[in-house]
Amino acid sequence: MSYSGLDLTGKVAAITGGASGIGLATAQLMASRGAAVVIGDINETAAAEAVASIEEAGGRALAVTTDVGEDAQIKNLVDQTVATYGGIDILYNNAALMAPEINGPGGRDNLIEDIDAELFERVLRIDLVSYALGAKYAIPHMLERGGGCILHTTSAGGEVSELPRAMYGTAKSGIIGLNRNIATQYGKRGIRSVAISPGVILTPAAEAVVPPELIDALVRHTTHTRIGRARDIAELAAFLASDAGSYITGQTITVDGGLLCHLPTFAEEWDKDYAAAAAS
Ligand SMILES: NC(=O)c1ccc[n+]([C@@H]2O[C@H](COP(=O)([O-])OP(=O)(O)OC[C@H]3O[C@@H](n4cnc5c(N)ncnc54)[C@H](O)[C@@H]3O)[C@@H](O)[C@H]2O)c1
Repeated sequence: MSYSGLDLTGKVAAITGGASGIGLATAQLMASRGAAVVIGDINETAAAEAVASIEEAGGRALAVTTDVGEDAQIKNLVDQTVATYGGIDILYNNAALMAPEINGPGGRDNLIEDIDAELFERVLRIDLVSYALGAKYAIPHMLERGGGCILHTTSAGGEVSELPRAMYGTAKSGIIGLNRNIATQYGKRGIRSVAISPGVILTPAAEAVVPPELIDALVRHTTHTRIGRARDIAELAAFLASDAGSYITGQTITVDGGLLCHLPTFAEEWDKDYAAAAAS
C-alpha cells in the first residue's frame, strides 16, 4: 500500500483568481491530487474553461463568478463552496488587480505623489482587504471541520520595493502581516496560514503589466537558469495544503529562482564574470 502525504482526496479548495496563471495551475494540480476545486474568478468565461479543463482530466470543479473587490461576492464564493461540497478545507487568496493601465508601464499605480485616494483604496481593497475577507468567511467553516489551510499570494514586490507600483507593493507587504496574524490567532484551533511570494512567473498578467526589458532584467538577476512558471508556485501551494505541509504555518515562502537571495549589485558583477569567461 502506498501513502502520499501530497494526496488531497476528500479536501475542498476555493481559489480566487483561479481561472488563469498561478491560480489556474494550482486549481489543476490540486484537482489532479483529489481535491474538489472552486474557481472564484471575475472572468466568467475563463473560469468556465478552467472547470472544463479540470473535468476533462477527471477532476471535480465548480466556477463561482467572483469579484474579490466586493465583500458580498467573497462571502458568496465561500457559501457556494460549502453548499456544493459540504465544507471548505483550503482557501487560496490569490487574485490581484493586474491591469496595464494601473500597474503596467506608466500606469496609475506609480509614484506616491501622483496616486489619487480612489486608487489607494481600490488596490488595497482588491489586493489585501479581499484576502482578510476570504479568511473571515472561510474560518468559521474550517473550525467546524476541525481545521484548514489558508494560502495567500504575496510577491517579491511585497518583500522589497519596486520603483513603480507603490500601492501594489504596499498591499503585498500587508499580506505578509495578515498571514502571520491569521496563523497566530487560529493555529491552536487547527488552521494554518502561509503566504507564497513569487518572483517573476511567466503568466498572462506578468506579460501584460511587466515590460519585456524588465522581465529580462529580473531574470538576469535570478540565481537560476530560467524564468518562473505558474507550476512552480502551484507545486508549493498544493504541498502546503496537503498533510506533507502540515507543520508549516505563519511563514512567507519565497519562490523566486533566487531573485532576492543576494545583494543586488552582485548580479551585475557575475554578468561581467560570465562575459569574461565566455570571451576567454
Ligand atoms: N506573475 C508574476 O510574476 C507574479 C509575481 C508575484 C506575484 N504574483 C501574484 O500572483 C497572483 C496571480 O497572478 P498571475 O500572474 O497568475 O495573474 P493572471 O492574470 O494570470 O491571473 C489572475 C486571475 O485573477 C483574476 N482576477 C483579477 N481581478 C479579479 C477580481 N477582482 N476578482 C476575482 N478575480 C480577479 C483574473 O481574471 C485572472 O484569472 C497575483 O496575486 C499576483 O499579484 C504574480
